[in-house]
Amino acid sequence: MIFVTGGAGFIGSNFVLDWLKTSDEPVVNFDKLTYAGNLENLKSVAEDARHLFVRGDIVDRERVHALFLEHKPRAIVHFAAESHVDRSILGPGAFIETNINGTFSLLEAARAYWGTLDAAEREAFRFLHVSTDEVYGSLNPEDPAFTETTPYAPNSPYSASKAASDHLVRSYHHTYGLPTLVTNCSNNYGPYHFPEKLVPLVISNALAGQPLPIYGDGMQVRDWLYVADHCAAIRRVLEAGVPGQEYNVGGRNEKANIEVVKVLCALLDELSPKQDGKYFDQAIFVADRPGHDRRYAINADKIARELGWTPRETFETGMRKTVQWYLENQDWVANVRSGEYRTWIEGNYVGREQLGRGA
Ligand code: NAD
Ligand code: TYD
Repeated sequence: MIFVTGGAGFIGSNFVLDWLKTSDEPVVNFDKLTYAGNLENLKSVAEDARHLFVRGDIVDRERVHALFLEHKPRAIVHFAAESHVDRSILGPGAFIETNINGTFSLLEAARAYWGTLDAAEREAFRFLHVSTDEVYGSLNPEDPAFTETTPYAPNSPYSASKAASDHLVRSYHHTYGLPTLVTNCSNNYGPYHFPEKLVPLVISNALAGQPLPIYGDGMQVRDWLYVADHCAAIRRVLEAGVPGQEYNVGGRNEKANIEVVKVLCALLDELSPKQDGKYFDQAIFVADRPGHDRRYAINADKIARELGWTPRETFETGMRKTVQWYLENQDWVANVRSGEYRTWIEGNYVGREQLGRGA
């Protein structure tokens, strides 16, 4: 079986659902259920004997180690993290605790467990750490895309905490021989994406008749990847990646934020037209994120060349599927947008200076 951390979050739940569709191998899904963890994402596998959900914190090393001894995973796939840059700006402490201390605890538990395995099991064992392209920092427009050898230069508390965790993982391979793998992926989008991030925020605010906040001039560039393609890349790296290696994962879809908002609005205009006007009329420009990275771009040649992975969705097909999913799952959005979510929206947006309107 495999042991997944953070499998009730956005990418983790997509991964668990995809895994159980494509494999009969059981999954232990270990998740703290922070604001970002949602068991509703896993409703379709709640009764599936191959899926065991355990609520807990990766910082709790003894508990995690006991679970490893009980379930004997052949691999750990580590998604659990605090993942939102804006939250890391308003409160970095949780990022240090989960992303750095939590990954350290998990590595220690894994190292102790790995030491109890026989030679063949030790050889086959994998610790796959899911990370981000944000560890490489910000690119200028003419710079080449990030490769696996681009020096780390993280700029936000989020990316700094992920960079620290990547370094710890690297050191556990180098020092102890733990068979680790690291994936550094670009911005994901798709089903079950928590509506604090740009794509689901724009879709859900548009449908709720609320403003679509664009930070600064909206010309910051991200490299977008449909979440199912990221999940496929992780499965492939787990299957064939070389221990100790890093793999960059990206969609070759560099888009400015304003373009993303326009594409989402155009899809909504087509699939769920408003009575009056267009969705982009709701766009507003607001004060920029402090330290906002200007551009990310991933060179995914290594994973294509060595492991044969390439994305299946284009930006257009992936965004269309995403908008359709949100239109068909408005109850999911309504449940998520109640409770803690409101406090976040007030903290991040109320009082933020408005710079202009989109239309
Ligand atoms: P998410 O915030 O949606 O989910 C994180 C999950 O981790 C939640 O279910 C949460 O309950 C759980 N969690 C948080 N702290 C925990 C702890 N201490 N112990 C156990 N569980 C805990 O995040 P996501 O967008 O699904 O990202 C998953 C991983 O992928 C993260 O490591 C992130 O850095 C990485 N990543 C994300 C993106 C992206 O675009 N979202 C891109 C590249 C890499
Ligand atoms: P986000 O989805 O938070 O991902 P990340 O910061 O990890 O790239 O943001 C994507 C881009 O969208 C980023 O450049 C910030 C911008 N953005 C806005 O313009 N408005 C918003 O309300 C949010 C949440 C993000």
